Amino acid sequence: MKRIAVLTGGGDAPGMNAAVRAVTRSAIFKGIEVVGIRRGYEGLLEGDMIPLTKSSVGGIIHRGGTILRTARSERFRRPEGINEALQQLRRFDVDGLVIVGGDGSFRGGWELSQGGFPVVGVPATIDNDIAGTDMTVGFDTAINTALEAVKKIRDTASSHDRLFIIEVMGREAGFLALEVAVASGAESVLVPERAVDLGRLCDKLRYARKRGKTHSLIILAEGVMAAHELAGQLMDTGGYDSRITVLGHLQRGGSPTAFDAVLASRMGAAALEGLVTGRKRVMAVYRHGGMELAPLSLAWEQKKSLNPELLDLVEKLSI
Ligand code: F6P
Repeated sequence: MKRIAVLTGGGDAPGMNAAVRAVTRSAIFKGIEVVGIRRGYEGLLEGDMIPLTKSSVGGIIHRGGTILRTARSERFRRPEGINEALQQLRRFDVDGLVIVGGDGSFRGGWELSQGGFPVVGVPATIDNDIAGTDMTVGFDTAINTALEAVKKIRDTASSHDRLFIIEVMGREAGFLALEVAVASGAESVLVPERAVDLGRLCDKLRYARKRGKTHSLIILAEGVMAAHELAGQLMDTGGYDSRITVLGHLQRGGSPTAFDAVLASRMGAAALEGLVTGRKRVMAVYRHGGMELAPLSLAWEQKKSLNPELLDLVEKLSI
């Protein structure tokens, strides 16, 4: 391989820059040139590529967002999109592609690789909803960002004897909500993977109020319903005055935690190694503390399940 490309796709995640740096420097270490594709598949279709050098990826390991930027491309999804993208890759003499992103980006990579073009992935999404890897790049940072916010909300909640419904990201998955709920000592967590039992939730709140709890926190994953809807459906909050907070996109920003910077560096290097050793349609995954390569298709063929132990823990520890 003489030249490879790297792109970031889908929603940005803290640590994407660390992954781009790791891919670039690992490739250069092996004498391979690197180009960065800007704005994901949209930029690929337009041939929006820039050379990446040792120094151009300097000073980015700690930065949030993605220096390559990202986009969701409708054009790429059309049947002719794949051919146009492959033409651009040929035009720039690119021999292989590293995709840093989530399941949507990986599906795109899979399509690109149908005819044999080498593609490998680095799973990066704050949702952590990629099967095959214990953690995705960005998840740890998002947990910590959300937790910092929840701790501040707790201060005001307890001062006013209030119930707070805090909506966190997670359109289809409750990984972020669950970790935040355990770490913040929330009363309850609502996730898309479990049916909501409003009666039980109200009972819990009443009981908490009765035994003198100054405040209650409900962590709600956005995929269940919006915070204002839940507030409207809670007929009885046990006497708590209630408020809502939607954390929104602040959860996607910020400097990666040490864990995410290390994970992204390891995954970027492992993905590059996979690419140069002829592995195709794989992604770098983190399992039991180690790096491995797993089929890219796991990202959409397998549903990653929430840890039931953590779900029970929220219930058990909030009595
Ligand atoms: O990055 C994943 C995710 O944060 C989801 O949890 C969320 O629903 C979605 O992205 C929001 O994406 P957008 O940036 O398009 O609003």
